[in-house]
Amino acid sequence: MFARLALLSLAVATASAAPTVPDTTQAPVDSCAGLGSGAFDTADNFTLAAFYTSLPNANATGLPLVLGSVAATDGAEYKALSTFGSFPYNQWTSLSLINGVLTGSGEDVPDAQAMSVPTGKALSFVTPPQGAAPQIFCAVADTDPAHGGFPQLAVNGDTDSFSLCPETTAPNALVNIVYNPDEGAQDYVFEQCTPVALHLVGLY
Ligand SMILES: *[C@@H]1O[C@H](CO)[C@@H](O)[C@H](O)[C@H]1NC(C)=O
Ligand SMILES: *[C@@H]1O[C@H](CO)[C@@H](O)[C@H](O)[C@H]1NC(C)=O
Repeated sequence: MFARLALLSLAVATASAAPTVPDTTQAPVDSCAGLGSGAFDTADNFTLAAFYTSLPNANATGLPLVLGSVAATDGAEYKALSTFGSFPYNQWTSLSLINGVLTGSGEDVPDAQAMSVPTGKALSFVTPPQGAAPQIFCAVADTDPAHGGFPQLAVNGDTDSFSLCPETTAPNALVNIVYNPDEGAQDYVFEQCTPVALHLVGLY
């Protein structure tokens, strides 16, 4: 919050001609465009689970997902959305969706902000947040009892292109959510990617 305020006042001081918009009140963009009347871009306090779309599932919820460690640089850490089974720690225990921005929060940790999701890449977060977050996420109601009735996460207007893919890096390979896995990828094993839907769990 302080960093945001500081950035904002800096922007005001240095660019008085340009209108400044704090990232918490970004103009609404329709991250749910084309996803029908059951789509919503704001939801508080949920978790995500990966539900196989081409394999049997142990239950209607799916595999619990957490923010798994990937990399750290000066002042920022990058997190993938990983199976709890491959990364058995859970510091960002709650997710929220606000105007299409996906954010993780937890006790004693700065928020983690979901970044843009290019095709072939892992769905990733940065913590602490760096500037304005992309408004690209949406939740879509799913009333099919076979899917447990959980809303599904969409990114870039698409619920159907997520897979779980194991990282290539041994020995502690995470199994991460990848958007539209790419055959030529170096950082995960394309042949072992498994299509999933992302369930929003805990909303009701
Ligand atoms: C979020 O949901 C969890 C589990 O449903 C609950 O234990 C927790 O109190 C909720 N947190 C907030 C801030 O509502
Ligand atoms: C559903 O099954 C997965 C895989 O066995 C397990 O990790 C998860 O805890 C189960 N969830 C519920 C709500 O039972």
